[in-house]
This record gives sequence, structure tokens and C-alpha cells, in this order.
Amino acid sequence: MIKVAPSILSADFVNFERDIKMVEKNGADLLHVDIMDGMFVPNMSFGWTTVAAIRPITNLFLDVHMMVQNPERYVDQFAKAGADLIGVHVEATSHIHRALQMIHNDGVKAEVVINPGTPVSQIEPLLPFVDQVLVMTVNPGFGGQKFLPQMIEKIQLLDDLKKDKGYDFDIEIDGGVNDKTVVDCYKAGATVAVAGSFVYGADDPAAAIASIHNATR
Ligand code: DX5
Ligand code: ZN
Repeated sequence: MIKVAPSILSADFVNFERDIKMVEKNGADLLHVDIMDGMFVPNMSFGWTTVAAIRPITNLFLDVHMMVQNPERYVDQFAKAGADLIGVHVEATSHIHRALQMIHNDGVKAEVVINPGTPVSQIEPLLPFVDQVLVMTVNPGFGGQKFLPQMIEKIQLLDDLKKDKGYDFDIEIDGGVNDKTVVDCYKAGATVAVAGSFVYGADDPAAAIASIHNATR
């Protein structure tokens, strides 16, 4: 069964507490928090002060996805705010290894993220060090976009590398995930599924979360 990480980008921004507690009660395995800087991606969301505000109201694992140019500028703030994992894009910095080191030095799990246009080969040297790899299944910046099936090959390649070399990282998918698109990703090796609009846009979010779990049993 894949783990489900609802993305609060699709929650009601004036009712975060209600919307976070609702998914926590209804089967969410972690909480995905999208940070957008208006530069790396053409949209803005919120920053570390929001992460700090969320931290005391939930026990969910906080999976923080930084869509931020030169993320090493802010890694420490997000760690201090209470992130359990911090993801940084390989495309966003010339010093991805340093950024990952900083996250680990802060005592937080480290994730490297790749955009749809970025090959797995670009992050191969990092695979022995990371706790999670995020394969973007849409171009980052907005919720509610269409899943890109070509990304499944990258998931498979990562899973093969994981097995061949004995690495130990989770493989997360993010963008356009629902109870249908998740199936082939899970078969290819994905272990964590982010779902924004599919969960928060549903009439019955609990059923939406359960449908992803049930599709990957
Ligand atoms: C996209 C974000 C996603 C977004 C996914 O840039 O990284 O986490 O919330 O939304 P859906 O599930 O609606 O595609
Ligand atoms: Zn995300």
C-alpha cells in the first residue's frame, strides 16, 4: 500500500487547522507542504512561518517541498519551524549536495526533487545519501494539473537502482495523482503519493484517501 500525503496547497487557506485535522483523522500518512517562491516556480504559496504555525496542531509527518531558488538560503528556517523532511530541487541550486548536507545537519530527513524535464542520471551521485526522491509528475507551480505518464519510466529506473545498489530511499510522486494514475507508479516502485486536488477537491476526502490506498494493495 502506498502512503498518502495530502497537499495543503489545495486546502482552504483560512481553515488550515480544520483541513489538516480532517485528513489526519481520515487516513493521511503524512502532510505535504508546498513552498513556492515566485521565482523557481511562477506562483507563491507560503513560508516557514506557516510551517511553524502548523507544527503544533498536528502529529502528521511534515513533508516540506521547497520550490525555491537557491534553497540553501532557507533550509535552516524550515528545519527550525518543525519540518520532518525537506525536499530541494536539483534544478534550483549549483550546490545540491551542500543543500542536502545542511538538511541532515539540522537533523531533518533530506529529499532531492526532479522536474519532469530532468533525468534520473542527474541525481545518481546523490542517491546513497538521500532519504527520499521526489519525481515530479507535473511541472511544479500549481495544483490540479494533468499527470504525465512518461514519468513512470523514471520511477522504475530509480527502483532498479535502489535494488541493484542496495540504497534505502522512498520514492514519492507529486502532481495529478488520483486512484487511477497512482497504480502504475506504485507498480514501478513509488512508495509515497502526494495528492492535492484529488483529496481536498473531493466531496468525501476520506473516501479519496482510501481509494488511493485500496488501488495499491
Ligand atoms: C505542484 C505541487 C503539488 C500540488 C499537487 O507544484 O508540488 O504538491 O499540490 O496538486 P495536485 O495533486 O492537485 O496535482
Ligand atoms: Zn509538492
